Amino acid sequence: MEIIICRDYGEMSKRAAGVVADLVRRKPNAVLGFATGSSPIGLYKELIRLHKEEGLDFSGITTFNLDEYVGLAGDHPQSYFHFMHENLFNHINVPRNRIHVPSGTEKDHAAFCQRYEAMIRKAGGIDLQILGIGSDGHIAFNEPGSSLGSRTRMVTLTEQTIEDNSRFFKSEKDVPRHAISMGVATIMEARKCLMVANGKNKAKALAAAVEGPVTSLITASALQFHPDVMVFADEAAAEALTLKDYYRWIDASRRQ
Ligand code: GLP
Repeated sequence: MEIIICRDYGEMSKRAAGVVADLVRRKPNAVLGFATGSSPIGLYKELIRLHKEEGLDFSGITTFNLDEYVGLAGDHPQSYFHFMHENLFNHINVPRNRIHVPSGTEKDHAAFCQRYEAMIRKAGGIDLQILGIGSDGHIAFNEPGSSLGSRTRMVTLTEQTIEDNSRFFKSEKDVPRHAISMGVATIMEARKCLMVANGKNKAKALAAAVEGPVTSLITASALQFHPDVMVFADEAAAEALTLKDYYRWIDASRRQ
């Protein structure tokens, strides 16, 4: 794992976006995995800027999102489909027919989840998966206790996640109780993973994920077994990392 500690949210977003942009320039038909949540919004803003000001071309990419709330249709303002269009897709030139966000409104969720996995395989697998981290250490909606071998499926959200995400809804009771989420094993198959973590309420989860034991109680810890992971964290999120001075030293040596 490469841990990159950034001065603030702005630097974290810019540097993380740089990795995505480099891949898109090198491989114009890259398959990108996107995440929702407030953490990657700055990264998406920077990708939009690179598109508008520097002509970064997304016309060849294919996208797969990590998750979606069960019961929210794409036009619901709190759906992840809507979030991705508002915060990224509407502002870049990605072809609409190559955007994939799990559907939370299928009659047969299990069959949909299998189709979603098949679509990822058919696209050649995910080249780069962007991730945030929940305050309980989850990736996508793989809550504590999710099998580290899990695939795309319907999950039940924890009370903590419902509380965390209630800030986007009118009230806590409006937050759906279930979601469709890529599994930990689905994410682990991405050729590269890039996590962004910011703010002090992520410090404990990030330290547990990166430096703690690999456990299904912190599903992000599975990434310790992934051969190519970059974690961009701001100072506040990096606060509880035991080896933070070493990570800074590595990053400084690399940039010399
Ligand atoms: C949700 C999403 C995750 C995201 C997490 C953290 O649970 N399913 O993919 O990482 O929220 O969100 P935020 O970045 O807003 O803290």
